[in-house]
Amino acid sequence: MSHSIEFQHIGKTFPGVRALNDINFKAESGKVMALLGENGAGKSTLLKIMSGDLPAYDGTILLDEKPITFDSPYHAITAGISVIYQERQVIPELSVMENLFVGELPTNRFGFVDKAKLREETSRIIDDFEVPFKPDDIVGGLSIANQQMIEIMKAYRRDPKVIAFDEPTAPLAESEIGILFKLILRLKDQGKTILYVSHRLSEIFEIADEIVVLKDGELAKTFKTTETDENELVRTMVGREIGDTYSTLERNGKFGDILLEVDNIVTPYVNNISFTLRKGEILGLAGLVGAGRTEVARAIFGADPVLSGEIRIEGKPVKFQKPKHAIDAGIALCPEDRKEQGLVLYRNITDNTCMPVFDKLTTGVFLDPAKETRLADEAVRKYSIKTPTTDKLVVELSGGNQQKVILGRWTSDEVTPKLLILDEPTKGIDVGTKAEIYQMICDFAKQGMGVILVSSELIEVINLADTIVVMCGGRVTGRLPRKEATEENVLALAMKTDAGEKM
Ligand SMILES: Nc1ncnc2c1ncn2[C@@H]1O[C@H](COP(=O)(O)OP(=O)(O)OP(=O)(O)O)[C@@H](O)[C@H]1O
Ligand SMILES: [Mg+2]
Repeated sequence: MSHSIEFQHIGKTFPGVRALNDINFKAESGKVMALLGENGAGKSTLLKIMSGDLPAYDGTILLDEKPITFDSPYHAITAGISVIYQERQVIPELSVMENLFVGELPTNRFGFVDKAKLREETSRIIDDFEVPFKPDDIVGGLSIANQQMIEIMKAYRRDPKVIAFDEPTAPLAESEIGILFKLILRLKDQGKTILYVSHRLSEIFEIADEIVVLKDGELAKTFKTTETDENELVRTMVGREIGDTYSTLERNGKFGDILLEVDNIVTPYVNNISFTLRKGEILGLAGLVGAGRTEVARAIFGADPVLSGEIRIEGKPVKFQKPKHAIDAGIALCPEDRKEQGLVLYRNITDNTCMPVFDKLTTGVFLDPAKETRLADEAVRKYSIKTPTTDKLVVELSGGNQQKVILGRWTSDEVTPKLLILDEPTKGIDVGTKAEIYQMICDFAKQGMGVILVSSELIEVINLADTIVVMCGGRVTGRLPRKEATEENVLALAMKTDAGEKM
Protein backbone atom coordinates (compact mmCIF):
# COMPACT_ATOMS: atom_id res chain seq x y z
CA MET A 1 0.00 0.00 0.00
CA SER A 2 1.16 3.49 -0.78
CA HIS A 3 1.71 6.09 1.94
CA SER A 4 2.87 9.65 2.21
CA ILE A 5 3.37 12.41 4.69
CA GLU A 6 3.24 16.03 3.64
CA PHE A 7 4.20 19.15 5.59
CA GLN A 8 2.45 22.39 4.67
CA HIS A 9 3.58 25.72 6.12
CA ILE A 10 4.82 24.12 9.34
CA GLY A 11 6.07 26.59 11.94
CA LYS A 12 7.03 26.33 15.59
CA THR A 13 8.12 28.96 18.09
CA PHE A 14 9.76 28.36 21.46
CA PRO A 15 10.42 31.24 23.87
CA GLY A 16 13.01 33.35 22.08
CA VAL A 17 13.48 30.89 19.18
CA ARG A 18 11.69 30.46 15.86
CA ALA A 19 12.62 26.77 15.57
CA LEU A 20 10.71 26.16 12.31
CA ASN A 21 9.31 28.55 9.75
CA ASP A 22 7.06 27.73 6.78
CA ILE A 23 8.34 24.22 6.07
CA ASN A 24 6.84 22.60 2.97
CA PHE A 25 7.73 19.18 1.58
CA LYS A 26 6.30 15.76 0.91
CA ALA A 27 7.85 12.39 1.72
CA GLU A 28 6.59 9.51 -0.44
CA SER A 29 6.01 5.80 -0.07
CA GLY A 30 8.96 3.42 -0.49
CA LYS A 31 11.54 6.19 -0.20
CA VAL A 32 14.01 7.42 2.35
CA MET A 33 13.91 11.18 2.81
CA ALA A 34 16.93 12.51 4.72
CA LEU A 35 16.75 15.62 6.88
CA LEU A 36 20.04 17.47 7.08
CA GLY A 37 21.06 20.61 8.89
CA GLU A 38 23.35 22.14 11.48
CA ASN A 39 22.84 21.66 15.20
CA GLY A 40 19.68 23.53 16.14
CA ALA A 41 18.39 23.76 12.54
CA GLY A 42 15.02 22.27 13.58
CA LYS A 43 15.24 18.61 12.51
CA SER A 44 14.20 17.07 15.81
CA THR A 45 11.50 19.69 16.29
CA LEU A 46 9.88 18.65 13.02
CA LEU A 47 9.97 14.99 14.06
CA LYS A 48 8.52 15.85 17.47
CA ILE A 49 5.63 17.63 15.78
CA MET A 50 4.82 14.60 13.66
CA SER A 51 5.09 12.31 16.68
CA GLY A 52 2.49 14.34 18.56
CA ASP A 53 5.01 15.46 21.18
CA LEU A 54 4.64 19.15 20.36
CA PRO A 55 0.90 19.68 19.82
CA ALA A 56 0.99 23.47 19.36
CA TYR A 57 2.37 24.32 15.91
CA ASP A 58 1.42 26.25 12.77
CA GLY A 59 0.50 24.69 9.45
CA THR A 60 -0.94 21.37 8.38
CA ILE A 61 0.31 17.80 8.16
CA LEU A 62 -1.27 15.46 5.61
CA LEU A 63 -1.00 11.72 6.17
CA ASP A 64 -1.93 9.74 3.04
CA GLU A 65 -3.22 12.99 1.51
CA LYS A 66 -5.61 13.69 4.43
CA PRO A 67 -5.08 16.46 7.01
CA ILE A 68 -4.35 15.11 10.44
CA THR A 69 -3.75 16.70 13.82
CA PHE A 70 -2.01 15.01 16.72
CA ASP A 71 -3.07 15.68 20.29
CA SER A 72 -0.64 13.22 21.85
CA PRO A 73 2.08 10.71 20.97
CA TYR A 74 -0.48 7.95 21.37
CA HIS A 75 -2.64 9.54 18.69
CA ALA A 76 0.26 9.69 16.23
CA ILE A 77 1.16 6.07 16.90
CA THR A 78 -2.39 4.85 16.29
CA ALA A 79 -2.49 6.90 13.07
CA GLY A 80 0.58 4.95 11.89
CA ILE A 81 3.53 7.24 12.64
CA SER A 82 6.51 6.01 14.65
CA VAL A 83 9.40 8.27 15.58
CA ILE A 84 12.66 7.03 17.04
CA TYR A 85 14.01 9.89 19.10
CA GLN A 86 17.53 11.23 19.25
CA GLU A 87 17.66 10.57 23.00
CA ARG A 88 16.87 7.06 24.15
CA GLN A 89 13.55 6.53 25.85
CA VAL A 90 13.94 2.91 27.03
CA ILE A 91 13.04 2.02 30.60
CA PRO A 92 16.23 0.45 32.02
CA GLU A 93 14.50 -1.43 34.85
CA LEU A 94 12.22 -3.37 32.49
CA SER A 95 12.98 -6.36 30.29
CA VAL A 96 13.42 -6.24 26.53
CA MET A 97 9.90 -7.59 25.90
CA GLU A 98 8.29 -5.20 28.37
CA ASN A 99 10.07 -2.28 26.72
CA LEU A 100 8.94 -3.33 23.27
CA PHE A 101 5.30 -3.57 24.27
CA VAL A 102 5.12 -0.95 27.00
CA GLY A 103 1.62 0.53 27.16
CA GLU A 104 0.30 -2.26 24.92
CA LEU A 105 1.16 -5.44 26.78
CA PRO A 106 -0.86 -8.42 25.50
CA THR A 107 -3.24 -9.80 28.14
CA ASN A 108 -4.85 -13.19 28.53
CA ARG A 109 -8.55 -13.79 29.11
CA PHE A 110 -8.13 -13.16 32.87
CA GLY A 111 -6.72 -9.71 32.21
CA PHE A 112 -3.16 -10.65 33.20
CA VAL A 113 -0.15 -9.97 31.01
CA ASP A 114 0.26 -12.91 28.66
CA LYS A 115 3.97 -13.52 29.17
CA ALA A 116 4.14 -16.47 26.78
CA LYS A 117 2.69 -14.41 23.95
CA LEU A 118 4.88 -11.44 24.84
CA ARG A 119 7.98 -13.62 24.77
CA GLU A 120 7.01 -15.26 21.49
CA GLU A 121 6.31 -11.99 19.67
CA THR A 122 9.51 -10.46 21.01
CA SER A 123 11.53 -13.46 19.82
CA ARG A 124 10.13 -12.98 16.36
CA ILE A 125 11.27 -9.35 16.25
CA ILE A 126 14.68 -10.27 17.71
CA ASP A 127 15.13 -12.75 14.84
CA ASP A 128 14.37 -10.01 12.31
CA PHE A 129 17.00 -7.78 13.89
CA GLU A 130 19.74 -10.41 14.40
CA VAL A 131 20.58 -8.95 17.84
CA PRO A 132 22.40 -10.85 20.60
CA PHE A 133 19.93 -10.47 23.49
CA LYS A 134 16.85 -12.30 24.79
CA PRO A 135 13.26 -11.25 25.55
CA ASP A 136 13.79 -11.51 29.32
CA ASP A 137 17.07 -9.54 29.49
CA ILE A 138 16.86 -6.37 31.58
CA VAL A 139 17.46 -3.41 29.29
CA GLY A 140 19.62 -1.43 31.73
CA GLY A 141 22.23 -4.19 31.58
CA LEU A 142 22.61 -4.01 27.78
CA SER A 143 25.10 -1.87 25.89
CA ILE A 144 24.03 1.57 24.71
CA ALA A 145 24.09 0.30 21.12
CA ASN A 146 21.71 -2.51 22.00
CA GLN A 147 19.43 -0.14 23.90
CA GLN A 148 19.27 1.93 20.75
CA MET A 149 18.37 -1.19 18.75
CA ILE A 150 15.47 -1.78 21.18
CA GLU A 151 14.29 1.75 20.52
CA ILE A 152 14.21 0.95 16.81
CA MET A 153 12.54 -2.42 17.37
CA LYS A 154 9.82 -0.70 19.40
CA ALA A 155 8.94 1.56 16.48
CA TYR A 156 9.22 -1.28 13.95
CA ARG A 157 6.92 -3.70 15.75
CA ARG A 158 4.00 -1.28 15.48
CA ASP A 159 4.14 -1.74 11.70
CA PRO A 160 3.79 1.99 11.03
CA LYS A 161 3.06 3.71 7.70
CA VAL A 162 5.64 6.39 8.37
CA ILE A 163 8.80 5.82 10.38
CA ALA A 164 11.27 8.52 11.32
CA PHE A 165 14.79 7.99 12.66
CA ASP A 166 16.53 10.83 14.52
CA GLU A 167 20.28 10.12 14.39
CA PRO A 168 19.83 6.40 14.92
CA THR A 169 23.44 5.47 14.24
CA ALA A 170 25.14 7.86 16.70
CA PRO A 171 25.45 5.14 19.37
CA LEU A 172 25.80 2.18 16.97
CA ALA A 173 28.84 0.20 15.86
CA GLU A 174 29.49 -0.78 12.22
CA SER A 175 27.85 -4.19 12.57
CA GLU A 176 24.64 -2.73 13.99
CA ILE A 177 24.59 0.00 11.34
CA GLY A 178 24.67 -2.80 8.77
CA ILE A 179 21.67 -4.48 10.39
CA LEU A 180 19.78 -1.18 10.55
CA PHE A 181 20.39 -0.36 6.89
CA LYS A 182 19.20 -3.79 5.79
CA LEU A 183 16.08 -3.22 7.81
CA ILE A 184 15.49 0.22 6.31
CA LEU A 185 15.75 -1.30 2.83
CA ARG A 186 13.16 -3.88 3.83
CA LEU A 187 10.85 -1.13 5.12
CA LYS A 188 11.29 0.69 1.80
CA ASP A 189 10.29 -2.45 -0.09
CA GLN A 190 7.18 -2.70 2.05
CA GLY A 191 6.21 0.79 0.85
CA LYS A 192 6.80 2.62 4.14
CA THR A 193 7.65 6.29 4.14
CA ILE A 194 10.96 6.85 5.91
CA LEU A 195 12.47 10.02 7.32
CA TYR A 196 16.11 9.86 8.33
CA VAL A 197 18.20 12.40 10.28
CA SER A 198 21.98 12.07 10.47
CA HIS A 199 25.10 14.21 10.56
CA ARG A 200 27.08 11.51 8.76
CA LEU A 201 26.97 12.42 5.10
CA SER A 202 28.30 9.06 3.96
CA GLU A 203 25.20 7.43 5.45
CA ILE A 204 22.93 9.86 3.68
CA PHE A 205 24.47 8.91 0.34
CA GLU A 206 24.14 5.24 1.17
CA ILE A 207 20.53 5.18 2.29
CA ALA A 208 18.60 8.29 1.20
CA ASP A 209 16.67 8.85 -2.03
CA GLU A 210 16.00 12.51 -1.40
CA ILE A 211 17.42 15.13 0.94
CA VAL A 212 15.81 18.11 2.62
CA VAL A 213 18.27 20.64 4.03
CA LEU A 214 17.07 22.82 6.90
CA LYS A 215 18.89 25.98 7.87
CA ASP A 216 17.92 28.11 10.88
CA GLY A 217 14.43 26.65 10.88
CA GLU A 218 13.81 27.26 7.17
CA LEU A 219 13.83 24.81 4.31
CA ALA A 220 17.00 25.75 2.44
CA LYS A 221 16.75 23.29 -0.45
CA THR A 222 15.59 19.83 -1.52
CA PHE A 223 17.86 17.46 -3.47
CA LYS A 224 17.73 14.09 -5.18
CA THR A 225 20.66 12.13 -3.74
CA THR A 226 21.89 11.14 -7.20
CA GLU A 227 22.01 14.76 -8.31
CA THR A 228 24.15 16.26 -5.54
CA ASP A 229 27.44 15.74 -3.71
CA GLU A 230 28.95 16.31 -0.26
CA ASN A 231 30.31 19.75 -1.08
CA GLU A 232 26.99 21.05 -2.28
CA LEU A 233 25.18 19.68 0.77
CA VAL A 234 27.69 21.19 3.18
CA ARG A 235 27.51 24.53 1.40
CA THR A 236 23.73 24.53 1.67
CA MET A 237 23.81 23.50 5.31
CA VAL A 238 26.59 25.68 6.63
CA GLY A 239 26.45 28.51 4.11
CA ARG A 240 30.15 28.27 3.22
CA GLU A 241 32.78 25.84 1.94
CA ILE A 242 34.56 23.78 4.56
CA GLY A 243 37.16 22.03 2.47
CA ASP A 244 39.52 19.47 3.94
CA THR A 245 39.12 19.91 7.68
CA TYR A 246 42.28 18.08 8.60
CA SER A 247 44.86 19.54 6.27
CA THR A 248 44.09 23.08 7.44
CA LEU A 249 44.55 22.31 11.16
CA GLU A 250 47.19 24.26 13.02
CA ARG A 251 48.91 21.61 15.08
CA ASN A 252 51.32 21.60 17.96
CA GLY A 253 54.78 20.64 16.74
CA LYS A 254 56.65 20.18 20.01
CA PHE A 255 56.00 18.04 23.04
CA GLY A 256 57.08 18.69 26.62
CA ASP A 257 57.85 16.34 29.54
CA ILE A 258 55.91 13.21 30.23
CA LEU A 259 52.51 14.09 31.69
CA LEU A 260 50.80 10.75 32.13
CA GLU A 261 52.11 7.24 32.50
CA VAL A 262 49.66 4.38 32.51
CA ASP A 263 51.74 1.47 33.69
CA ASN A 264 50.33 -1.99 33.25
CA ILE A 265 46.95 -1.27 34.81
CA VAL A 266 44.22 -3.83 35.29
CA THR A 267 40.61 -2.88 36.02
CA PRO A 268 37.48 -5.05 36.08
CA TYR A 269 37.17 -4.30 32.35
CA VAL A 270 40.66 -3.96 30.85
CA ASN A 271 44.00 -5.78 31.15
CA ASN A 272 47.65 -4.75 31.26
CA ILE A 273 47.18 -1.33 29.72
CA SER A 274 50.36 0.72 29.29
CA PHE A 275 51.08 3.96 27.47
CA THR A 276 52.61 7.38 28.07
CA LEU A 277 51.44 10.84 27.10
CA ARG A 278 53.62 13.91 26.88
CA LYS A 279 52.56 17.51 27.50
CA GLY A 280 51.23 18.95 24.27
CA GLU A 281 50.50 15.56 22.77
CA ILE A 282 47.20 14.21 21.45
CA LEU A 283 46.89 10.49 22.03
CA GLY A 284 44.14 8.69 20.16
CA LEU A 285 42.59 5.53 21.55
CA ALA A 286 41.32 3.54 18.60
CA GLY A 287 39.41 0.28 18.54
CA LEU A 288 36.06 -1.22 17.79
CA VAL A 289 33.07 -0.68 20.06
CA GLY A 290 33.63 -2.80 23.18
CA ALA A 291 37.44 -2.71 22.89
CA GLY A 292 37.69 -1.04 26.31
CA ARG A 293 38.59 2.52 25.33
CA THR A 294 35.92 4.18 27.48
CA GLU A 295 36.95 1.91 30.34
CA VAL A 296 40.56 3.10 30.13
CA ALA A 297 39.35 6.70 30.20
CA ARG A 298 37.17 5.96 33.23
CA ALA A 299 40.02 4.27 35.10
CA ILE A 300 42.32 7.28 34.60
CA PHE A 301 39.51 9.56 35.79
CA GLY A 302 38.90 7.57 38.98
CA ALA A 303 35.48 6.41 37.83
CA ASP A 304 36.44 2.71 37.74
CA PRO A 305 38.75 0.98 40.25
CA VAL A 306 42.35 0.20 39.29
CA LEU A 307 43.05 -3.31 40.61
CA SER A 308 46.77 -3.42 39.86
CA GLY A 309 49.43 -1.46 38.03
CA GLU A 310 50.06 2.25 38.45
CA ILE A 311 49.02 5.60 37.02
CA ARG A 312 51.53 8.45 37.34
CA ILE A 313 50.94 12.13 36.66
CA GLU A 314 54.12 14.17 36.15
CA GLY A 315 56.07 11.27 37.61
CA LYS A 316 54.02 10.97 40.82
CA PRO A 317 51.85 7.88 41.42
CA VAL A 318 48.16 8.75 41.85
CA LYS A 319 45.26 6.69 43.17
CA PHE A 320 41.96 8.43 42.56
CA GLN A 321 39.10 6.93 44.56
CA LYS A 322 36.53 9.02 42.70
CA PRO A 323 36.33 11.53 39.82
CA LYS A 324 36.41 14.48 42.23
CA HIS A 325 40.00 13.56 43.13
CA ALA A 326 40.95 13.39 39.46
CA ILE A 327 39.35 16.77 38.78
CA ASP A 328 41.31 18.27 41.69
CA ALA A 329 44.48 16.89 40.14
CA GLY A 330 43.72 18.66 36.85
CA ILE A 331 42.06 15.90 34.85
CA ALA A 332 38.88 16.46 32.86
CA LEU A 333 36.67 13.88 31.17
CA CYS A 334 33.99 14.65 28.59
CA PRO A 335 32.00 11.41 28.74
CA GLU A 336 30.59 9.38 25.89
CA ASP A 337 26.98 9.32 26.97
CA ARG A 338 25.87 12.86 27.61
CA LYS A 339 22.51 11.83 28.94
CA GLU A 340 23.69 9.47 31.64
CA GLN A 341 26.98 10.93 32.71
CA GLY A 342 27.36 14.40 31.41
CA LEU A 343 24.48 16.73 31.95
CA VAL A 344 21.77 17.64 34.41
CA LEU A 345 19.01 18.21 31.89
CA TYR A 346 16.66 20.24 34.04
CA ARG A 347 19.28 22.84 35.01
CA ASN A 348 20.33 25.73 32.80
CA ILE A 349 23.43 26.15 30.63
CA THR A 350 25.30 28.18 33.25
CA ASP A 351 24.81 25.55 35.96
CA ASN A 352 25.78 22.78 33.60
CA THR A 353 29.00 24.40 32.47
CA CYS A 354 30.00 25.35 36.00
CA MET A 355 28.85 22.42 38.12
CA PRO A 356 31.89 20.14 38.03
CA VAL A 357 34.26 23.04 38.53
CA PHE A 358 32.50 25.01 41.26
CA ASP A 359 35.69 24.87 43.35
CA LYS A 360 37.52 26.88 40.75
CA LEU A 361 34.85 29.56 40.55
CA THR A 362 34.95 30.84 44.10
CA THR A 363 36.20 34.14 45.36
CA GLY A 364 37.06 33.57 49.01
CA VAL A 365 34.62 30.87 50.05
CA PHE A 366 31.70 32.03 47.93
CA LEU A 367 30.81 31.03 44.41
CA ASP A 368 31.52 34.02 42.22
CA PRO A 369 28.54 34.68 39.91
CA ALA A 370 30.68 36.83 37.64
CA LYS A 371 33.05 33.91 37.04
CA GLU A 372 30.11 31.60 36.46
CA THR A 373 28.62 33.94 33.90
CA ARG A 374 31.99 34.39 32.18
CA LEU A 375 32.49 30.67 31.86
CA ALA A 376 29.01 30.03 30.45
CA ASP A 377 29.21 32.99 28.04
CA GLU A 378 32.59 31.82 26.82
CA ALA A 379 31.26 28.33 26.16
CA VAL A 380 28.31 29.68 24.18
CA ARG A 381 30.58 31.92 22.13
CA LYS A 382 33.38 29.43 21.48
CA TYR A 383 31.13 26.63 20.32
CA SER A 384 28.34 28.73 18.79
CA ILE A 385 25.80 27.09 21.12
CA LYS A 386 22.46 27.97 19.62
CA THR A 387 20.43 29.54 22.43
CA PRO A 388 18.83 32.91 23.24
CA THR A 389 20.36 33.01 26.79
CA THR A 390 22.55 30.99 29.15
CA ASP A 391 19.48 30.58 31.39
CA LYS A 392 17.94 28.11 28.97
CA LEU A 393 17.45 24.62 30.38
CA VAL A 394 19.77 22.09 28.79
CA VAL A 395 16.81 19.81 28.05
CA GLU A 396 15.56 22.50 25.66
CA LEU A 397 18.75 22.56 23.60
CA SER A 398 19.15 20.50 20.45
CA GLY A 399 21.19 17.29 20.80
CA GLY A 400 24.37 18.69 19.28
CA ASN A 401 24.17 21.84 21.35
CA GLN A 402 23.94 19.74 24.52
CA GLN A 403 27.19 18.08 23.49
CA LYS A 404 28.79 21.50 23.08
CA VAL A 405 27.86 22.43 26.67
CA ILE A 406 29.92 19.47 27.91
CA LEU A 407 32.91 20.56 25.86
CA GLY A 408 32.49 24.13 27.04
CA ARG A 409 32.88 23.07 30.66
CA TRP A 410 36.47 22.11 30.41
CA THR A 411 37.87 24.46 27.88
CA SER A 412 37.45 27.92 29.30
CA ASP A 413 40.12 30.27 30.60
CA GLU A 414 38.76 29.81 34.15
CA VAL A 415 39.30 26.06 34.14
CA THR A 416 42.34 24.73 32.42
CA PRO A 417 42.94 21.05 33.00
CA LYS A 418 46.35 19.44 32.51
CA LEU A 419 44.87 16.40 30.94
CA LEU A 420 41.73 16.45 28.86
CA ILE A 421 40.03 13.16 28.05
CA LEU A 422 37.46 13.37 25.26
CA ASP A 423 35.22 10.34 24.73
CA GLU A 424 33.37 10.65 21.41
CA PRO A 425 33.47 14.47 21.47
CA THR A 426 31.86 14.96 18.06
CA LYS A 427 28.94 12.58 18.44
CA GLY A 428 25.86 14.34 17.06
CA ILE A 429 27.85 17.43 16.06
CA ASP A 430 27.29 18.94 12.61
CA VAL A 431 30.06 19.05 9.99
CA GLY A 432 30.76 22.77 10.35
CA THR A 433 31.17 22.69 14.12
CA LYS A 434 33.24 19.51 13.90
CA ALA A 435 35.96 21.45 12.13
CA GLU A 436 35.95 24.03 14.93
CA ILE A 437 36.18 21.32 17.57
CA TYR A 438 39.18 19.73 15.82
CA GLN A 439 41.02 23.04 15.88
CA MET A 440 40.03 23.51 19.53
CA ILE A 441 41.58 20.11 20.36
CA CYS A 442 44.82 21.11 18.63
CA ASP A 443 44.77 24.40 20.54
CA PHE A 444 44.59 22.56 23.88
CA ALA A 445 47.67 20.65 22.87
CA LYS A 446 49.44 23.84 21.84
CA GLN A 447 48.83 25.22 25.33
CA GLY A 448 50.73 22.24 26.71
CA MET A 449 47.76 20.13 27.80
CA GLY A 450 47.75 16.43 27.19
CA VAL A 451 44.73 15.15 25.29
CA ILE A 452 43.33 11.63 25.11
CA LEU A 453 40.84 11.25 22.28
CA VAL A 454 38.45 8.34 21.97
CA SER A 455 36.38 8.22 18.81
CA SER A 456 34.71 5.53 16.81
CA GLU A 457 35.25 7.59 13.68
CA LEU A 458 38.60 6.12 12.80
CA ILE A 459 39.37 8.86 10.32
CA GLU A 460 39.06 11.40 13.13
CA VAL A 461 41.58 9.61 15.36
CA ILE A 462 44.05 9.00 12.56
CA ASN A 463 44.04 12.62 11.49
CA LEU A 464 44.04 14.32 14.88
CA ALA A 465 46.18 12.19 17.16
CA ASP A 466 49.97 12.44 17.28
CA THR A 467 50.11 8.89 18.58
CA ILE A 468 47.49 6.21 18.15
CA VAL A 469 47.12 3.44 20.69
CA VAL A 470 44.95 0.64 19.37
CA MET A 471 42.90 -1.63 21.63
CA CYS A 472 41.06 -4.89 21.16
CA GLY A 473 39.24 -7.00 23.74
CA GLY A 474 40.38 -4.92 26.70
CA ARG A 475 44.07 -4.96 25.73
CA VAL A 476 46.50 -2.75 23.86
CA THR A 477 47.31 -4.35 20.50
CA GLY A 478 49.53 -1.69 18.97
CA ARG A 479 50.90 1.82 18.98
CA LEU A 480 51.48 3.98 15.88
CA PRO A 481 52.64 7.53 15.21
CA ARG A 482 50.29 9.51 12.96
CA LYS A 483 52.65 9.28 9.98
CA GLU A 484 52.38 5.48 9.98
CA ALA A 485 48.66 5.20 10.73
CA THR A 486 46.29 4.24 7.94
CA GLU A 487 42.75 2.96 8.23
CA GLU A 488 43.95 -0.49 7.18
CA ASN A 489 46.73 -0.95 9.71
CA VAL A 490 44.72 0.54 12.59
CA LEU A 491 41.79 -1.72 11.75
CA ALA A 492 44.05 -4.75 11.56
CA LEU A 493 45.28 -4.02 15.10
CA ALA A 494 41.74 -3.30 16.27
CA MET A 495 40.75 -6.81 15.25
CA LYS A 496 43.86 -8.54 16.58
CA THR A 497 42.40 -10.71 19.31
CA ASP A 498 45.46 -12.85 19.95
CA ALA A 499 47.55 -10.14 21.62
CA GLY A 500 49.99 -11.40 24.23
CA GLU A 501 49.80 -10.60 27.94
CA LYS A 502 52.12 -7.64 27.59
CA MET A 503 53.15 -5.41 24.72
N1 LIG B 1 11.51 22.27 24.35
C1 LIG B 1 12.16 23.32 23.84
N2 LIG B 1 12.10 24.51 24.44
C2 LIG B 1 12.74 25.57 23.95
N3 LIG B 1 13.49 25.57 22.82
C3 LIG B 1 13.60 24.40 22.16
C4 LIG B 1 12.94 23.22 22.63
N4 LIG B 1 13.23 22.21 21.79
C5 LIG B 1 14.02 22.73 20.82
N5 LIG B 1 14.25 24.05 21.04
C6 LIG B 1 15.05 24.95 20.19
O1 LIG B 1 14.62 24.81 18.84
C7 LIG B 1 15.74 24.88 17.95
C8 LIG B 1 15.78 23.66 17.06
O2 LIG B 1 16.13 22.52 17.83
P1 LIG B 1 16.16 21.03 17.25
O3 LIG B 1 16.30 20.14 18.43
O4 LIG B 1 14.99 20.83 16.36
O5 LIG B 1 17.51 21.04 16.40
P2 LIG B 1 18.17 19.86 15.54
O6 LIG B 1 18.14 20.28 14.12
O7 LIG B 1 17.53 18.58 15.89
O8 LIG B 1 19.69 19.92 16.05
P3 LIG B 1 20.75 18.72 16.41
O9 LIG B 1 21.45 18.37 15.17
O10 LIG B 1 21.70 19.40 17.36
O11 LIG B 1 20.00 17.61 17.06
C9 LIG B 1 16.98 25.03 18.84
O12 LIG B 1 17.32 26.38 18.90
C10 LIG B 1 16.50 24.54 20.20
O13 LIG B 1 17.21 25.14 21.26
MG1 LIG C 1 18.17 16.91 16.92
